[in-house]
Amino acid sequence: MSNAELMERRNAALPRGVASLTSVFVAKAENSELWDVEGKRYVDFAAGIAVCNTGHRHPKIMAATAQQSEAFVHTAFQINPYETYVSLAERLNQLAPISKAKTIFLNSGAEAVENAVKIARHCTQRSSIIAFTGAFHGRSMLTMGLTGKAVPYKAGFGPMPAGIYHVPFPLEQYGVTIEDSLKALEALFKADVPASQVAAIIIEPVQGEGGFQIAPKAFIQALRSLCDQHGIILICDEIQTGFARTGKIFATEYADIEPDILVVAKSLAGGYPLAGVIGKAEVMDSPDPGGLGTTYGGNPVSCAAAHAVLDIIEDEQLCERSNRIGKQMKTRLEKIKATGNTTPIGEIRGLGAMVAFDLVKVAGGNTPDPDRAKKLTSQALKNGLILLSCGIYGNTIRLLAPLTIPDNHLAEGLDILERSLAEC
Ligand SMILES: Cc1ncc(COP(=O)(O)O)c(C=O)c1O
Repeated sequence: MSNAELMERRNAALPRGVASLTSVFVAKAENSELWDVEGKRYVDFAAGIAVCNTGHRHPKIMAATAQQSEAFVHTAFQINPYETYVSLAERLNQLAPISKAKTIFLNSGAEAVENAVKIARHCTQRSSIIAFTGAFHGRSMLTMGLTGKAVPYKAGFGPMPAGIYHVPFPLEQYGVTIEDSLKALEALFKADVPASQVAAIIIEPVQGEGGFQIAPKAFIQALRSLCDQHGIILICDEIQTGFARTGKIFATEYADIEPDILVVAKSLAGGYPLAGVIGKAEVMDSPDPGGLGTTYGGNPVSCAAAHAVLDIIEDEQLCERSNRIGKQMKTRLEKIKATGNTTPIGEIRGLGAMVAFDLVKVAGGNTPDPDRAKKLTSQALKNGLILLSCGIYGNTIRLLAPLTIPDNHLAEGLDILERSLAEC
């Protein structure tokens, strides 16, 4: 069956709200390559939206999940616990930049953020939460409220949950300084909600959907001080940034602070559904037994996959590799930008292999060109490269190659990107 035929069936059977960026129906995937049902091959610079840092079907993950499936697939941890959940929690407690941590496992990023907020509220006995403009924390009712982009995530789904406030994320590029953001926080405490009623501040150390915008170190450190001053829980959402994507296991490590809670998902289990909330032991222990949990959370097969992912990150030195990939991508992008005979490229930025660039109307300018971003992703697809856009203006192209990508596939992907940029 062709992609077009499958697309027709898809559109008839599924609601419009479930969007697919491409009409490429996958038949097979291996590390950084993907083949569709028509046999066409693609280099994958999307990695399932930052889920496959360890590539598609890494042999160690395949072996670990097969072995676990032979033993048992589900018991519900609340009924019959198993060692791999505990040992995975122990490993994450060690890896997280938190001195004495505890961890609970959930199924998805949004569910983990929901649980982080529940824990923060229970621990502080306060209700309000502060998030940032441009943030993405999920699509469930609460996380949709926390998300800082109205269209398409929030419009028409109101009313939003009560007690959520948004403050401008510092974006020097668009004239919002760290001081502006901190002043907005102070103004919020004066005008809308006293700091004494705020349970948590949630921030992505690098905004993902928001355009790979890096939260400045000084800003995260200022948030840490504010949280300490007012007894507020600092939640770092590492769902997109975690597990070597930024050149460290967690991007929060760059800020030299200890968050109270760290939320993880995506690349934690290399494609198997698994999310976690890692937090300071005294914070995590606040809710009473039975207050937290979910039927599938910490599924044994997902836990087996996550153990393999952590082994791979260590064995294959993926943090170092992430930095090397990022450097290669940025160097190439700077070179393409400098030639000037291509679609105008604005800012190029990134941490490790979490690299992005903006498309702008005029070279040297800052006016976003989201139409060109759409053209580029579809041109790249025609040329055999899966590429994602993002950003508050929809003009950012993000490069999320698996960290296990072989050098020749990385070079091939960058060649296709350069050609596609020239063609649109
Ligand atoms: C930073 C961040 N938080 C939360 C989420 C939501 O995760 P999920 O789609 O697994 O619910 C995402 C997903 O893209 C994300 O990037």
